[in-house]
Amino acid sequence: MPSRSADDKAAALPNPDAAIHPTLVTSRLVLRPIVAEDVNDLHDAFADPETMRFMDFPPALSVADSARYLAIYVFPLPDWHATWALVCRQTRIVMGFVNYHHRETWNHRLEVGFLLGRPYWKRGLMSEALDAVLEYCFERLEIERVEVTMSPDNDNAVRLAERLGFQRESGLMSRRQRVATGYRDQSMYSLLRDEWRGSAPTTGQTAAPSDDGCR
Ligand SMILES: CC(C)(COP(=O)(O)OP(=O)(O)OC[C@H]1O[C@@H](n2cnc3c(N)ncnc32)[C@H](O)[C@@H]1OP(=O)(O)O)[C@@H](O)C(=O)NCCC(=O)NCCS
Repeated sequence: MPSRSADDKAAALPNPDAAIHPTLVTSRLVLRPIVAEDVNDLHDAFADPETMRFMDFPPALSVADSARYLAIYVFPLPDWHATWALVCRQTRIVMGFVNYHHRETWNHRLEVGFLLGRPYWKRGLMSEALDAVLEYCFERLEIERVEVTMSPDNDNAVRLAERLGFQRESGLMSRRQRVATGYRDQSMYSLLRDEWRGSAPTTGQTAAPSDDGCR
């Protein structure tokens, strides 16, 4: 029997990180843990004032700014936060990210966040990605309540959340978010486990690839 190389043996070992921050696969996307090198694909989004309008960071003025933003996300602490790069299965381009943060394991609660580069808006990609992440949160992390806080002026994000079943729970929370131009008011949206539609599974290697790439 041929002996296996050290690399083969390493590949056969379970990856401990995968168990706590696994890659998720949907028909058009691979959602894998984000890495520092993803700055190459994400910088255009981080530098775009329209994309960053409702984010906590001002638009990046340099690749170094974008790298600093990304550094916050690349070391997951799954009991607290984890971020997936949103990769097109066909082109391998990183188009955005989706994450959970402020996870409170003792309360079975967390908050989600998301960003997509503008060229990829209006294709249903973030709905597809969030659906997979919600499935992961409800099924694997045993979360009872998922939250998202948003400016009610962020029309695209509000429509996205409502499409997935989130309901607005609060009036305006004054000056809750600091953005480039000052402070923004936000509202809280929530999705409870028994409100989640539990759509057909989209995660796992069994998801059928889409023919049309990320169009
Ligand atoms: C929020 C954000 C991710 C939403 O992006 P989006 O493209 O509107 O959302 P999706 O990827 O889910 O696409 C849904 C849209 O694509 C359309 N669509 C087109 N093809 C589709 C397809 N094959 N499947 C599903 N929807 C499709 C839908 O009708 C929907 O349009 P609508 O909102 O006008 O009804 C994006 O605007 C963004 O990154 N904004 C900047 C960052 C930000 O503000 N993040 C939120 C902070 S709280």
